[in-house]
Amino acid sequence: MRIGIPKEIKNNESRVGMTPAGVFELVKNNHTVYVQSGAGDGSGFFNTDYQQVGAIVLDTIGQVYAMSDMIVKVKEPIKEEYGLIQKGQVVFTYFHFASSETLTEAMIDRKAICIAYETVEDEDGTLPLLTPMSEVAGRMAIQQGAKYLEKPEKGRGVLLGGVPGVAPGKVLVLGAGIVGIQAAKMAAGLGAHVTILDVNMKRLRYVNDVMPSHVVTEFSNEFNIRKHIKDHDLIIGGVLLRGAKAPNLITRDMLKDMRPGTVIVDVAVDQGGCVETTRPTTHENPVFIIDDVVHYCVANMPGAVPYTSTMALTNVTLPYVLKLANLGWVEACRTDASLQKGLNIVEGKVIYKEIIEAFNWQAVEV
Ligand SMILES: NC(=O)c1ccc[n+]([C@@H]2O[C@H](COP(=O)([O-])OP(=O)(O)OC[C@H]3O[C@@H](n4cnc5c(N)ncnc54)[C@H](O)[C@@H]3O)[C@@H](O)[C@H]2O)c1
Repeated sequence: MRIGIPKEIKNNESRVGMTPAGVFELVKNNHTVYVQSGAGDGSGFFNTDYQQVGAIVLDTIGQVYAMSDMIVKVKEPIKEEYGLIQKGQVVFTYFHFASSETLTEAMIDRKAICIAYETVEDEDGTLPLLTPMSEVAGRMAIQQGAKYLEKPEKGRGVLLGGVPGVAPGKVLVLGAGIVGIQAAKMAAGLGAHVTILDVNMKRLRYVNDVMPSHVVTEFSNEFNIRKHIKDHDLIIGGVLLRGAKAPNLITRDMLKDMRPGTVIVDVAVDQGGCVETTRPTTHENPVFIIDDVVHYCVANMPGAVPYTSTMALTNVTLPYVLKLANLGWVEACRTDASLQKGLNIVEGKVIYKEIIEAFNWQAVEV
């Protein structure tokens, strides 16, 4: 199969759909890989790195799309790319169709085979191609939170680890899922006192079993949240209700109960956030302040660490890419139930029911 790796052209996206290690595997399996010149630069992989493992570097994005049976990328195609996608071409990437009717209609129109990373689902309901990005964001949340706690950044001026003779900072983590656990682990590693809340007792039992004793679990309810926001320095929002908007666990009126310079990193911003005052921000302008509380609400946190994020993403996508290349999309999806769940649009027909529901469309037979 001919596989194309275009350069991401979405604003501020430096990740790339495949590393030289992935190209190496595909070439070993007798596939041809076209990489757009400069596609990996932002992640630290250069044309020569790809060429050394057998990729053919092409000058333009148009050439990559025109010559490939399957496109492997990171973000959803943007308007400039719509016209490049060909009938029957497999596009394997994050799509998030339910959040864009324009994108959905464009992909229907192009009659491509759209396989979305975010809906590939394992038997136990976990989303293997989303997990690494939550891991990155969870760990990064503490790094960013620690920075914004510094006085010049308008934070409380607290060093999370403390020093001998001075108590460490306190971190409150809402949600003990992937983001929450990674955040708690990083905060604990810095020596901070950590309180982690969830409504799922299985998650809390797990955290209690594996974390050191300065990570304390508590059940998530309004009483406990109101109690803890008063004396915690850094609050991490990592709550997710599958397929729904995140609940506002911290409401506007609760900000006045926090100490000036408290920092909120609402990682759940991409689902609306678990803080009422959350609104999406960017890496150029990541924070805003309301009632002296610093809000960090960047919706694509992994984009700031493209080397790590590209490696983490491609580690998990490569086995599926290999399967699609070796068997073709029909056989690959027929024999792999997880991958089959990734099929969203097939030659002009939407087959993922959540997309049809999101836009109140009529279902079609396939
Ligand atoms: N901003 C970014 O760049 C970025 C990156 C990756 C993930 N995310 C987002 O982070 C969020 C969390 O992702 P995840 O992978 O950790 O999800 P997850 O499903 O692994 O964890 C969510 C947790 O929230 C818990 N929860 C539900 N209701 C709760 C409540 N009322 N109180 C406390 N906990 C509650 C669930 O029980 C679960 O343990 C998602 O919205 C995800 O899209 C954002």
